[in-house]
This record gives sequence, C-alpha cells and structure tokens, in this order.
Amino acid sequence: MEDLTAAFPPLKTLDTHRNNLPIQPTPFIGRAKEVAAVTQLLRRPDVRLITLTGTGGVGKTRLGLHVAAELSDDFADGVFVVALAPVNDPTQVVPAIAQTLASLIASDRPLFTLLQAFLKEKQLLLLLDNFEQVGEAAVMLADLLAACPRLKIVVTSRMGLHVRAEHEFIVPPLSVPTLKQLPDVRTLSHYEAVARNPCRCHRSSVSGWTMRSALVFDLLRL
Ligand SMILES: Nc1ncnc2c1ncn2[C@@H]1O[C@H](COP(=O)(O)OP(=O)(O)OP(=O)(O)O)[C@@H](O)[C@H]1O
Ligand SMILES: [Mg+2]
Repeated sequence: MEDLTAAFPPLKTLDTHRNNLPIQPTPFIGRAKEVAAVTQLLRRPDVRLITLTGTGGVGKTRLGLHVAAELSDDFADGVFVVALAPVNDPTQVVPAIAQTLASLIASDRPLFTLLQAFLKEKQLLLLLDNFEQVGEAAVMLADLLAACPRLKIVVTSRMGLHVRAEHEFIVPPLSVPTLKQLPDVRTLSHYEAVARNPCRCHRSSVSGWTMRSALVFDLLRL
C-alpha cells in the first residue's frame, strides 16, 4: 500500500500552485467599466502597485478578486490573495504574506529577507485585502517592489497608502436608479445594485407600484 501511495501521489492541479483565489458563492454583477480600467492599469509595465479605495462594503474586495482572476494567466508564478482583515499590527504583514506563500517558500532565514529573495525573480501578483488597519506597512511594500522587479501588488483599503509607487483607483458604488423618478421594473433590473439584490423583483403577485416601492426599500438597504 505504501509503495502504491509513493508511486501514485495525490494529483495536484496547476491551479492550486498558481493561485489561492476563493470561489465566490454568488455571481459577479456589473462593474464592466471598473474591471476594464483596473485590468488595463495593472497591465501597464510602469504600474506595480494599485490601491482600490472606497467606503466599507462598496465592493473593493470583490473587484480585486475578480481582476486578479481575470489576470491570472499574465502572472507565470501565480496570483495570491492575503487576507489582512484579522491583522492589526503592521509588523505582522510580512508573516501573513509569507504564510500565504509558505507552501512555496521553505527556509529558516528571517522572513523579510526570505520573502524578498523568494519574490526577486518571480512574476507574481499579490492581492493584499483590507490593508487599512496596517497602513504603516506600506513602506515595506515599496521596499519589496523595489527589490522584486516583476512583482505587482493590488491592495484593497478604505484609504490610500500614500507611497510613491501607488496608483489609487477609487471604487464607486454599484450603479443605482434615481429614486425620485423610478423607471419600469424591466429597466430597473439593468442597474447593477438592483441586479445584486433582486429578491423582490420576481414576486409576480404584487402590483407594479408595490414592486417598485419594495425595490426602493431594497435599494435603501444596500
Ligand atoms: N460586483 C459585485 N457582484 C456581486 N456581489 C458583489 C459585487 N460587489 C460586491 N458584492 C458583494 O457585496 C458585499 C460587500 O463587498 P466587498 O466585501 O467586496 O466590499 P468591500 O469594499 O471590500 O468592504 P470592506 O471595506 O468591508 O472590506 C460582498 O458580499 C460581495 O460579495
Ligand atoms: Mg474588503
């Protein structure tokens, strides 16, 4: 049995080595303009650091994950997301990145040196999600980018990082109709925010007026 296990190790798909992007439980809605703009920006050779900024819940993480997935073929060494929401201490950013890449790095040298050495020749995209709590670590990101010429970083944060390499992209809310002059239900469904929250649009037993009022209610809850 042991011989068999050695001869036929578990199959590993290329993807598990090249990205750790989570599968989303809901479909991605709209955002065609923002996806095109961020993708184009990130493909520019001179752009190495993009910060997606915007208010809480506006869709920064979702946009970042979508763009990262779209661009995964552009990065020969992979695309990795590091969830920083549970991290409050800027000194813990390097360990969090190293931990995400742990299966690819193996050594007992100091973490930052290790990370720099590992990323030096890599063509890799890091998506650092929820950076706002660890903003002081932005300087470390600039050092990492300077040392690793093919590395690119997308950060999501409620505010900008204010380092020289940064290109800030402000994430707008999903498109919503004007509440004063609501269009008909069919037109309403083309708005991104309505498409994201369609719960009451499909109730056929209510009158048009009730349905539209219900939509207003839903929109206000977004
Ligand atoms: N384009 C979209 N399509 C579908 N769902 C979306 C879209 N944008 C955002 N959402 C959903 O809305 C919720 C909030 O989005 P997200 O987590 O990306 O916000 P955020 O700006 O990163 O918030 P925070 O500042 O709290 O980190 C999530 O459940 C997300 O899946
Ligand atoms: Mg987020």
